[in-house]
Amino acid sequence: MPERHYRLCLLPGDGIGPEVISAAVEVLHAAARRFGFTLASGSYPMGGAGLIAAGDPLPAATLAAAQAADAVLLGAVGAPEFDREPPARKPESGLLRLRSALGAFANLRPIRHYPGVGSIPLKDEWAAGADFLIVRELTGGIYFGQPRGFEASRQAAFNTMRYSVGEIERVARVAFALAAERRGKLASVDKANVLETSQLWRETVTRLAPDFAGVSLEHLYIDNAAMQILLRPRDFDVILTANLFGDILSDEAAVLAGSLGLLPSASLGGPVGLYEPVHGSAPALAGQDVANPLGAILSAAMLLRHSCREPQAAAAIEAAVLRALEDGLRTRDLDAARPLGCRAMAAAVIARL
Ligand code: IPM
Ligand code: MG
Repeated sequence: MPERHYRLCLLPGDGIGPEVISAAVEVLHAAARRFGFTLASGSYPMGGAGLIAAGDPLPAATLAAAQAADAVLLGAVGAPEFDREPPARKPESGLLRLRSALGAFANLRPIRHYPGVGSIPLKDEWAAGADFLIVRELTGGIYFGQPRGFEASRQAAFNTMRYSVGEIERVARVAFALAAERRGKLASVDKANVLETSQLWRETVTRLAPDFAGVSLEHLYIDNAAMQILLRPRDFDVILTANLFGDILSDEAAVLAGSLGLLPSASLGGPVGLYEPVHGSAPALAGQDVANPLGAILSAAMLLRHSCREPQAAAAIEAAVLRALEDGLRTRDLDAARPLGCRAMAAAVIARL
């Protein structure tokens, strides 16, 4: 029997990050008690909190703690007081460095529709049955390509979108393998009618397809994909795409889930997995106990599944979240009329665990 003790690095970050992380940690401890494993965790500053604590959005001690842990659970980074910082001192740059340092090249963002849930006026029947997984390349593309910068005059600026065959292959293999475990459908999203990186992307993904005989592959242009996920959401199973396209598509897909506050993510590929809700730091909501903790709680479930190999505990947390939603419990983003606070929602999930 392997030892079932897990060391977690907690990076609450900024805005509502600390609140949603403490909610998720309570749920993790409840799951540990119920499923008989143990957890140890340490909390480290990151993003704006890292700038305040150590003058760096990813302090060296924070990165070292993340690399030494079994898994990293992150809240959110970004605070308006740091918006005017130079690029290297922006809270977001700490997050990008962390993803890169952890080698977390495959970002999994599951999207599903919860019946009757949602503040966004998309008809429930359109979204009904939607259940797909976005696999977003996370450590390459235009987010990282060099050269980048401003020209000295600041009258122009530039970024570089660059992908190597190796970078495309490794994330594509993750997506194909996940599609094989799901409904066997992979949609690769690119802009091959315009971009060379996308032409290489399409060629590379196509070349891998014969290795995954049970998976059917379609290619879509990003502009068309943005429309199709809303027109025919049920047709999608796994969507594979580049860093920037995945960033955009995942916020769009949140409309199908009902709120960005519901979306979890897992960033895999390196020795230590990184788990974070997709929503941002939402500074306007911070400190009021109104944030939706379900994205963070579902990220914690992904952490148990992928980093701790505790699939039963992961499924139990996901079922408890579903039950809380079925019982009509809503945070403010889901229903402003009768909102539950962040802590109360976490307690409701624990009560159903
Ligand atoms: C996300 C966020 C980040 C990204 C920001 C905060 C850097 O939008 O995880 O989707 O663009 O990757
Ligand atoms: Mg985003």
